[in-house]
Amino acid sequence: GKTYDIALVPGDGIGPDVTKAAWAVAEAAAERDGFALAGTTYPWSCNYYLETGRMMPEDGIEKLRGHDAILLGAVGWPATVPDSVSLHGLLLPIRKAFDQYANIRPHRLLPGVEGPLKAESFDILCIRENTEGEYSGAGGRVHQGMLQEVAVETAIFTRTGVERILRFAFEAAKVRRGRVASVTKSNAQKHSMVFWDEITRLVAADYPDVEVTSYHIDAMAARMVMAPETLDVVVASNLFGDILTDLGAAIQGGLGFAASANVNPTRSAPSMFEPVHGSAPDIAGKGLANPLAAIWSAAMMLDHLGEAQASARILKAMEAATTRGFGIRPGAQTTDAITDAVLTAINEE
Ligand code: NAD
Ligand code: IPM
Ligand code: MN
Repeated sequence: GKTYDIALVPGDGIGPDVTKAAWAVAEAAAERDGFALAGTTYPWSCNYYLETGRMMPEDGIEKLRGHDAILLGAVGWPATVPDSVSLHGLLLPIRKAFDQYANIRPHRLLPGVEGPLKAESFDILCIRENTEGEYSGAGGRVHQGMLQEVAVETAIFTRTGVERILRFAFEAAKVRRGRVASVTKSNAQKHSMVFWDEITRLVAADYPDVEVTSYHIDAMAARMVMAPETLDVVVASNLFGDILTDLGAAIQGGLGFAASANVNPTRSAPSMFEPVHGSAPDIAGKGLANPLAAIWSAAMMLDHLGEAQASARILKAMEAATTRGFGIRPGAQTTDAITDAVLTAINEE
């Protein structure tokens, strides 16, 4: 069979624990489906920063570029390195350098998980713009420390960037339930968000079979809680998508369930797979992190690599594990126990 060459970036806090779990499950699924995974681990993290003064080496991006995909845990340890340094030194440059413009984040309840909502079933696919918008990094500060100090953070929206993420969302809706919810704040932000709404209408004209509705971000936040079952594909800018996907995680039962794929749809560079959650300093080192978000992300990686059967196998095994009560309540089992339950289900098939 084939061998895929994967870069592993475990990162900080619970990142290494959940990456190890995801890797073990991915390898088990690969074995069942007759292919292999070769992993190269890069120890880039806040500890690496404290030792070297960088989050990754100068040629870090070039090292990653040669791999078929990247599996990442979490980046950030604010007690020792400011988040603005660690995230702009590792996670964000990877998304940008490899033009991983589509951040795909599925939100649905796994069997046995009791979410906080009355809604028993919803299946939302968040498509988050991942390379520009509010995360452009354009701006600066003047008169630092003085009364007159000013900080400017400029959100940059390009026609190319907005159009391609909307097209990606419409394509996703076409093979799902045919609905796109496009999220802006065009009542208050009259340049970028009106631009986004206009491009939404232009792109929608190419997809007569997809029903599109534009929502304001505030109303969407309420809808995801009050009526999540009315949503199919939700497409949003970088920051709005970031916030909505932690909300999506919450309605799934917690951050331990939410997976993500940072995809370069042109495949001109590797894509990156990581849970939505961060390094969870409050529970790090206790062995209690839920690995399901990372495991689900690894399943998305295998699907992206063309191994749909192994990907489906992992999803099925996760569902078997949660049905048996594993991973459904925060802190009730160890990371290892939940991982073992998924591995057991994979080997039972
Ligand atoms: P967080 O996602 O790390 O934690 C938020 C809450 O969710 C915490 O109570 C945590 O214990 C819980 N949680 C998260 N993952 C969990 C899991 N797998 N199982 C059980 N509980 C889980 O968010 P934060 O506290 O805002 O950020 C901590 C650090 O991580 C910061 O440095 C932040 O910048 C960084 N961060 C990184 C990423 C990433 O690498 N993609 C994402 C988010 C935050
Ligand atoms: C995420 C994270 C990152 C983001 C942070 C850590 C920069 O919250 O992947 O959702 O905002 O994209
Ligand atoms: Mn986030």
